[in-house]
Amino acid sequence: MSGIGSVTISLDGSNKSSKLPLIGGTVGPPVADIRKIYNDLGIFTYDPGYGATASCESKITYIDGDEGVLLYRGYPIEQLAEKSTFLEVAYLLLNGELPNAAEAKEFDTGVRMHTMLHEQLRVFYNGFRRDAHPMAVMCGVVGALSAFYHDSLDINNPEHRRISAFRMIAKVPTIAAWAHKYNVGQPFMYPQNDLGYAENFLYMFNAVPAEPYRVNPILARAMDLIMILHADHEQNASTSTVRLAGSTGANPFACIAAGIASLWGPAHGGANEAVLHKLGEIGHVKNIPTFLEQVKDKNSKVKLMGFGHRVYKNFDPRAKIMQATCHQVLGELGIKHDPLLELAMELEKIALHDDYFVSRKLYPNVDFYSGIILKAMGFPLSMFTALFAVSRTVGWISQWQEMIADPEQRIGRPRQIYTGAAQRDYVPLDRRD
Ligand code: ACO
Repeated sequence: MSGIGSVTISLDGSNKSSKLPLIGGTVGPPVADIRKIYNDLGIFTYDPGYGATASCESKITYIDGDEGVLLYRGYPIEQLAEKSTFLEVAYLLLNGELPNAAEAKEFDTGVRMHTMLHEQLRVFYNGFRRDAHPMAVMCGVVGALSAFYHDSLDINNPEHRRISAFRMIAKVPTIAAWAHKYNVGQPFMYPQNDLGYAENFLYMFNAVPAEPYRVNPILARAMDLIMILHADHEQNASTSTVRLAGSTGANPFACIAAGIASLWGPAHGGANEAVLHKLGEIGHVKNIPTFLEQVKDKNSKVKLMGFGHRVYKNFDPRAKIMQATCHQVLGELGIKHDPLLELAMELEKIALHDDYFVSRKLYPNVDFYSGIILKAMGFPLSMFTALFAVSRTVGWISQWQEMIADPEQRIGRPRQIYTGAAQRDYVPLDRRD
């Protein structure tokens, strides 16, 4: 961060003004540091949804929503998607640089060493209803990790933070796969540490003890790619939730559980599940016009899930990669005519030319395609957001670590505009109307 000038705000009708420092990042627009505005002018700023507010300094991920750019530690997502692996990307997000061969091996081994869950955590699953949503299970079990790994909870100890990061990244696929196994009544499959990260997840998700199971390498690569694309996305709702929870000094497992809860919502990570539900409801290409009429009707509150993004107002670069992968996966699985995919493609075509969507800069986001791929790979709809959580855990933990090490970090505590009743006196019950 560097000072690049100032902006002066004056209060109309008074002689008060405030000279606010303008700060420049590596790339991106200048940012006004408004911290002293209350002292200088006696006013707060109002920004619901934080569309114009930077909540922190970060060196991890950069997005240019107008140009459709997404960089992890400076590397374009397209290059990482083509050339890297999820674990290498995880190292990059956590440490800031790509690993050399020795560092990559050590990191890989570190993650593999932590894939098992404490055996008592198995019993935890029995407390959930059989049909519990995997995200409900994940919120609970990830939060419960803090009750099991006391030896890595000191957030001021860098070694504890490092071990917690390994534990979270390594254990979250096991937790998600077991949430599914619990749903379908199959035995939990223990991790196989000779398998790659995405491969191991597919193994724990699909395999049963009674039969040999070989992970399809093309599907393992597609899974790895989906994980890379979802690994981080700067200060989105769930990441901000993790940071806000972490700003109080809460332990990392509790913070990630808070992030999972935030991700669950249909406006965020729950969108890929919602896309498939919606496609199922629309049912047929002939019903698209009626559906789009509902979307455009302001009173209906119906949205085209998988379209639109708070930041991307041109295109979502992850969606482009995902669209290509979608066709590759369907080809590998021999799915030539998938009615839902055909419906999705038709919906995409119509929406991209419809003035409602064009004028509001609403384009397909990553979730529009990821839902279709995951369904083709045999994941039930309820697992879609859980998979997103598995991938995003590395982003959350990287952002949490960055926040803890930031000397400017303070407890997150937004202000408000109070519009409720002004102070008034208590009225006894017998004198109320
Ligand atoms: N379908 C129909 N209309 C939409 C959609 C949509 N998917 N998204 C936005 N709009 C409309 C809004 O109604 C609004 O219209 P108006 O100007 O006539 O009032 C206009 O576009 C601007 O929308 P905002 O709500 O201001 O956009 P915001 O940045 O707040 O919301 C969000 C972004 C939440 C992603 C929104 O586009 C949405 O709900 N999309 C569907 C859910 C989705 O796919 N979420 C996944 C996001 S990606 C991720 O989390 C990985």
